[in-house]
This record gives sequence, structure tokens and C-alpha cells, in this order.
Amino acid sequence: MSSLSAKPTPSGATDASARPPAAVANDIRTSAPAASGTHSAPVAADHLYLVVVGHVDHGKSTLIGRLLFDTNSVAEGKTERIQAACKAEGMEFEYAFLMDALLEEQAQNITMDTTRVPFCTPRRAFTIIDAPGHKEFLKNMITGAASADAAILIVDAHEGLREQTRRHGYLLSLLGLKQVVVAVNKMDLVNYDEKVFDRIRAELTEFLGKLNVRPAHFVPIAAKFGHGLLRADGQTPWYRGPALLEALEQFRSTPPIEGAPLRFTVQDIYRFDARRIVAGLVETGHIAVGDPIEFHPGGKRSKVKSIETWPVPGTPAPGPVVAGRSVAITLEDELFVERGQIGAAPNATPSEAREFTARVFWLHAEPLRVGDTLPLRLGTQQADARLVAVSRVLDAVTLDTSSAPANEVKRHEVAELRLRVRRPIAFDAGGKIPALGRFVLMRGRRIAGGGVIDAALIEEDAQSENLPVTTAARASLLGHRGAVIWLTGLSGAGKSTLSTALEQRLFRAGVLPVVLDGDVLRAGLCQGLGFSPEDRKENIRRAAESALLLAEAGAVVITALISPFREDRQLVASRCKARNIPFAEIFVNAPLSECERRDPKQLYQRARAGQIPKFTGIDSPYEAPLAPTLELRTDLESVSQSLDKLTALALTMARPPEPGVAAGADI
Ligand code: ADX
Repeated sequence: MSSLSAKPTPSGATDASARPPAAVANDIRTSAPAASGTHSAPVAADHLYLVVVGHVDHGKSTLIGRLLFDTNSVAEGKTERIQAACKAEGMEFEYAFLMDALLEEQAQNITMDTTRVPFCTPRRAFTIIDAPGHKEFLKNMITGAASADAAILIVDAHEGLREQTRRHGYLLSLLGLKQVVVAVNKMDLVNYDEKVFDRIRAELTEFLGKLNVRPAHFVPIAAKFGHGLLRADGQTPWYRGPALLEALEQFRSTPPIEGAPLRFTVQDIYRFDARRIVAGLVETGHIAVGDPIEFHPGGKRSKVKSIETWPVPGTPAPGPVVAGRSVAITLEDELFVERGQIGAAPNATPSEAREFTARVFWLHAEPLRVGDTLPLRLGTQQADARLVAVSRVLDAVTLDTSSAPANEVKRHEVAELRLRVRRPIAFDAGGKIPALGRFVLMRGRRIAGGGVIDAALIEEDAQSENLPVTTAARASLLGHRGAVIWLTGLSGAGKSTLSTALEQRLFRAGVLPVVLDGDVLRAGLCQGLGFSPEDRKENIRRAAESALLLAEAGAVVITALISPFREDRQLVASRCKARNIPFAEIFVNAPLSECERRDPKQLYQRARAGQIPKFTGIDSPYEAPLAPTLELRTDLESVSQSLDKLTALALTMARPPEPGVAAGADI
């Protein structure tokens, strides 16, 4: 059963990805001149939601206008009125005008994200979602196709495949639409030539095959003349398959996913008397009184106490409520359930995670960049999502993959990427339950991209509420683990410069960095300590303990201290190891002569003049690391070269441990 035939939800919520309630669809049907009296209304269960996609000039409007006309779905007199208006203006009548007129009417009656055009045949009722002519077609397609049962992909026989044909084909695959019929339109322009038809079919079959989309039929049509729409006609005697409408009639309304567990998306909570009523949509499975139910995110569990009915006299007592229906329930326990949660069968719950891999189709003119944070909507959930990394970018037209690692996704590109939400969301990944794996990304109030979740990366423990806040839990919150990056080297070697630059880089990459700089510490935490070996040792010890605390809290700590003695640095390394904090020793190396030449604080000059005793490199030793994790020759390489190496290392160190793998110590 298609969920558009669901009862209206009390909330009237408009979610980008949710199907609108039937009340809205019915409004259209009553306000629009559809469903003429010539046909008995087919049962709602048989209702098919359709998208028509394809290149902008390939005849979508004409096809839809013609379908409305040929199925008697246009109000009495309407066609004649439009014909008369055309004549008055000296224009040729076009079927596309029927569509336009319908859309205009709708625009006056209702405001909604997507337009819906209903029509029916004696066997079946259809609603076309995302009628063309509507602005932001792709955006609507993402939201619309998400709720469609089937698609017509239209190709101009004369022009053949165009970019949009392929792009829309890709979208169908991304959104998991399996029931597709290809209408090869404008056959009249190629003299109903079988060879042209065959060529297009071969080319498109190959392209769509790569995407795992296998059209049920390729139908030759000439929408303008109605050829091939209702039944086979004499124009294409070589064609043996069904006419377009016959092909559509064969499709199934989204069948309930066989054996799928309960997914109940919560739309609103109401208080009536003392009761808390949870209203939402049964996406899959079914709900009955007495059923155990668990709400995610969070995993709170209760049982269904009652199913509330609408106060319609004569309504029979509610039995189990099945997929596609909106329902309001009460629970046996007083749980704090909120909009956005998903009620699930306790033995088959959705994933709950803060980080996941996904494929996203990007629509916004401004690219999606690594580090960007955007609101993500999935079902009735909303959460801020940050783009952590892009692993692959794909051109939806050529299906070419860029091999270079990308840090942005441009308009009309599809990318495999990693997203991270600020708080856990619940979903079903990998297309198991499509409606709960699809999401849209917003920019401002606009849909900027749409996608599907492929896999959860860091699963939450649903019962995490009573658990202590562990290092792993912190890592899960931040999306990375803490680490200590210890820069050592002579005064003037470049430690401070590199540490602040690295801090900025990491911050932009979504990592929480903290710099501990020798000069700053000595002005506060280490005030009063001098430069004797003992004082330096104590200086390093305090810096190291601070670094440990911060790293355990989840930060990536970058220290910039001369730390001239091997033994002291060794101590820091072993402290980190003991506490399971990744540690790296970075030798920021410039020869003394170069540091003296730079002398940013004129300290070497003063030391040479005897004004600063025990100055490192002059009259106090510097013991170079024997096996640093990384050596940066700041006299030979540029700041940005050093920085690239440092950033790469830091990001590797901060990468969260794979689930189930014990956190390693040093790198
Ligand atoms: S460390 O040796 O204990 O690691 P730290 O990095 O904290 O030294 O402090 C070094 C900074 O202190 C130098 O950048 C410089 O500005 C200042 N300084 C003052 N006297 C000395 C000295 N005798 N030797 C080294 N640095 C000094």
C-alpha cells in the first residue's frame, strides 16, 4: 500500500522526505479536474505514484498533458477553453498547456513543495509527482522520487541521450527506484524508425545497467499525437511490447517490504487529558496493541497501550496498523518520546550513529566542502551534519570517477562521503528500508542535496545513558580521538609558527586542536621556572601532564617547547603510552646558524652578548631526537610543505579507532 493513502496526520507536518498526507492529495483531486466520472475510482491500494524524468526538452509536459487528456482526466470544457484561448492568440494548441493550466490552478489552491498531478485509467489511479515546469526540478526529484513507486524516463528519439537523461537515470538508481519504463518520445520525428529506437534502447540499457537500473520496458511513443500511450497502434508495427499506460499499469504500488520490522516515524506528541499520544507514520511492519516498541535514538522501550482512532462515528475498533498508515498510539510507560524518533521492533532496531558513509547528489551552486556543517533531514529527524571527508566523486553524466582525493562536491556531482551529525540519529543503512536511509541536506531553507546512507561508521550504544563517559565515548562525540603532537627544536626553528598553523588546519578539518606553547606556559602554569636542567625538566613535566589531560578530554594537543633533553621527551612518550594516548615526536629542525640568522626575538643576539645565560644552542645543550616520528627541515622546506606532512600525520593519529579494535598507543 502506498503511504500517500495514509490518514492525515494531526501535525500536518511537512517533511522534505515524508509523503504528504492524503488530505492534501485529495484536495488536489477535488480542486483539480481529475478523476473524471467516466471511470469507477480504483481502490487506493492500487494507486501508483510516478515521477516523469528526463531532459527538459524531451517532452515531459506534452506527455503528461496528453496522458490527462487521453484518460479523460481533464475537467469538462477545459481543453476546449484552452484551445479557444490559443486560437484567440493565434497559437497552436499544445497538450503541455493542459499541464500548465493544472499547475496554475494548484498554485492558487495550495502551497507545497512538489506538485502532484492525478489521473486514472479504468484499471488504475496514478499521481504524477514533480510535474515538470515546476522550478528546481532536481530538488523536487530528490524529494519526489523518494516517494515515488515508479518512473517514466523520457528520451527524445530525435536527439537521443542527453546529459539530463543520464543524470536523472543516475538519480533513479541512487534513490533506489526500481520500476522504470523508458518512453522513447517524438518517434514521429524519426519516421517511427525501429533502428533509431533500437539504438537508443541499447545505449540507455548499457548506461542504466551500470547503475543497476533495468527498465521494465522501452516504449516508442509520439506524445504529441498520442501514439503508443494507451494501446499499441499502427505506427510502430515492429514493436511488440505494451503501450506506455499498459506498462505503467503493470507496476506495483510500493509493496510493503517483505518481512521488514516495524519502523514508526514519530511526527508529534500530543497531550489529551492525562494521556500522551504519539502520532506518526508506520513506514514498515505493523503496530498492534500490546506490541513491545523501542524508540531510537535512545533505545527507550515500552509497549503499545492503545491505538487512538479518529473520532469518526462508526469507525471499527482498530486492529493492527500496517505500513503506509499514520497512527496515534499511547504507551504503557511514561517515556519521553519526541518528534524525529523512530519506534522499532526491539528485536530489529535501526542503526544509531553519529558518523556514517553516504552517497550524496549535490544540487546547490555553491559546492559542498569538507568541514561544512548543514542541517540534515531524515524522516522526521533533523540534525546538523558535517562533511568529514569525500572519498570519491562521480560525474553523474559520464559515471567517471575522479581519482584525486577531493575536498568538495560541485553541483550535479555525486560523491561518496563521510558525514557526521552532532547527535546520534537513527536510520537503516544500505537500502534495507529505503525510506529510513534517505536524507536531504539543507542550505538555509533550501534543499541543497540528497542522499542515501550506505553504512554506519561508529554505532552508538543505545543504552549509553547509564554508562560512564569514557575516552571512546568522547571520541565518538568529537568524531576523533585525542593525541599529543610534540614539537621539539631550537628557539627560532619554527615550532610556534607550525603549531598555530597546524591548529588552524586541524580546526578547519573539524578536529579540536589545542596549542601548548613554551612562552605561554612559562607566563602562567610554569611561572617561576628558569632554564636550569631541573627547571626545564619540571617545565616539560607540567606541559606533558597538561597535554595528557587535554588529550584525554579529546583534544589534539600540539606542544611547542624546546624540550632539549632526550630523557625528558622520552618520559612524555611513555606517559602517553601508559595512558593510551597517541604520541608523536616532531623534530622541528633548522641548524643553529639559521635560527640565529632568523632570531625573531633577538634572543640569540642577547645570549651571544652574555645577557641570557644557559641559552639553548649557545651555552646550554640541545639533544636532537634520534628517531623522531617526523623531522621537518624548516630551513629546506616551506612552511606549507612542513604543514602538509604535519597535518597528514595529525589526522591519522586523530582518526577514531575502528569499532572493535583496541586503541593503539603511539604511532
Ligand atoms: S624548554 O627548554 O623548557 O623547553 P621552553 O620552550 O619552555 O624551553 O621556553 C623557551 C623559550 O623561552 C624560548 O623561546 C625563549 O623565548 C625563552 N628563553 C628565555 N631564556 C631562555 C634560555 N636560556 N634558553 C632557551 N630559551 C629561553
